[in-house]
Amino acid sequence: MSALQTEVDRRRTFAIIAHPDAGKTTLTEKLLLFGGAIQMAGEVKARGDRRRARSDWMKVEQERGISVASSVMTFEYEKRMFNLLDTPGHEDFSEDTYRVLTAVDSAIMVLDGAKGIEGQTRKLFEVCRLRDMPVTTFINKLDRESMDPFELLDVIEQQLALDVTPATWPIGMGRDFKGCYDLINDRLILIEKTKNDLPDDGLVCQGVDDPQLDNLLPENLLEKLREDVAMVRELCPEFDPQAYLDGTMTPVYFGSAINNFGVRELLEGIGNRSPIPSSFKTTGREVTPYDNKVSGFVFKIQANMDPKHRDRIAFFRLVSGKFKRGMKLKLVRDGKLVNLHNPVMFMAQDRELAETAWPGDIFGIPNHGNLRIGDSLTEGEELRFTGIPNFAPEYIQTVRPEDPMKAKHLGRALQQLAEEGAARVFKPTIGSEWFVGVVGMLQFDVMGDRIRTEYDVPCRFEATSLYTAVWVECDDKFKLKAFIDGNKANMAEDHSGSPVFLARNAWRLDKARDDNPDIRFLKTKEQL
Ligand code: G4P
Repeated sequence: MSALQTEVDRRRTFAIIAHPDAGKTTLTEKLLLFGGAIQMAGEVKARGDRRRARSDWMKVEQERGISVASSVMTFEYEKRMFNLLDTPGHEDFSEDTYRVLTAVDSAIMVLDGAKGIEGQTRKLFEVCRLRDMPVTTFINKLDRESMDPFELLDVIEQQLALDVTPATWPIGMGRDFKGCYDLINDRLILIEKTKNDLPDDGLVCQGVDDPQLDNLLPENLLEKLREDVAMVRELCPEFDPQAYLDGTMTPVYFGSAINNFGVRELLEGIGNRSPIPSSFKTTGREVTPYDNKVSGFVFKIQANMDPKHRDRIAFFRLVSGKFKRGMKLKLVRDGKLVNLHNPVMFMAQDRELAETAWPGDIFGIPNHGNLRIGDSLTEGEELRFTGIPNFAPEYIQTVRPEDPMKAKHLGRALQQLAEEGAARVFKPTIGSEWFVGVVGMLQFDVMGDRIRTEYDVPCRFEATSLYTAVWVECDDKFKLKAFIDGNKANMAEDHSGSPVFLARNAWRLDKARDDNPDIRFLKTKEQL
């Protein structure tokens, strides 16, 4: 087997989706603990503090106590390499989350056992479904009073229209939560042993009727476990690997992340059953991870991660080939070569130079603004990866510099932030103001803060009466030009010069649609 194939086959690139507070951060920390990226459970807190200290670069993040940035963590467990992409949980940053989900091959959906499916979980799940992405479910906080496990399975099945099959089964809950029975490997794993340490391997048994269990569990719980497992085997479909890979079935794990419980089984499940790095579509052919030539795409840009170096990092998903540091790759958008002499990998919280990377890996490319979201980099081939969306803004405001002399500086800052994907920026054909469009209101605060601190341009955002901004396209360029010329007062350009129609209200947009059947009014635009 070639090194490329071996490395591809041992990689799992995934994200965690969850409603805020379900336990995504806690689970992430525990996964890293297993991966040896952090030491013992006791250090998690210290690490948390350190992490907070590190993300000082963004004041808004501190003030609001939310994680604005998504990052990536790489760790190894039982010979497999895991790339875990963090997604911001706050709904104002869902746009970022959507893009992160374009760069992973599977997802873990974390639910709070007492709450079931919550708003943000459902939204994020729908994004996974758009890509038929395999989703594994982790039901957390079983150490608290939770919904009945059968009811939880039913909720997932009904609300997400997914087939569900439990991979583990909880024994008791709340104060009586004793552990889980691993239905796949017939193992009993008890919680007492795992609170402060990595859990042991559990007790392998011959099914739930194994007499070994009689001494380990109180009689009432054991009886309930035996009944439940009989019912599970009768009522739930068996795990179907293909249905999981097709995104129509989710295996369900139960646990308590804070107690470090159920996490290993989850990680083993991801390692054994989640897909290897996917093939990706381009404007030309489909690229498989086994292609020898290097290719990949930028799905996220983050500016000024390190306050000491005013850098920008483009997060790059390697799709094919073996990447070596120092390679020169073609930026397909403009045909220029990009020299990758200092790509960074994110091992847990530390950055390291990436000497080599394999398909499925994510690395950061420091740059001064020449890379944009959606950019494809290849070893020369004319391939553009598709499917990285730009969303039509839901809120639009104007932005003005406090000091009118700084209008040009503001323009430059807005252009850079738009390229980074922090917001949409529109320059109307008529007039000198700028419009900024976002998907969540909080993005205005983040933008304003960054323009003030990073670009030194104090500015003000003000409400507008605009309803929405949509991209316009037409196969006939003369018709497009006629439309633009005829609607000058409502036209603008985005940061890349694409024409945008600014609608004052829904009626105007509908009318423009009716009057111009050849023009396409688009709420999302692929970043090419
Ligand atoms: P998030 O990233 O999805 O928003 O969730 P996070 O991990 O921050 O967890 C949200 C809260 O739930 C935290 O409590 C965390 O300690 C708690 N939690 C996580 N997993 C479990 C679990 O398995 N059982 C129980 N009982 N609680 C859990 P907090 O009070 O908001 O923060 P903290 O002060 O405890 O850190």
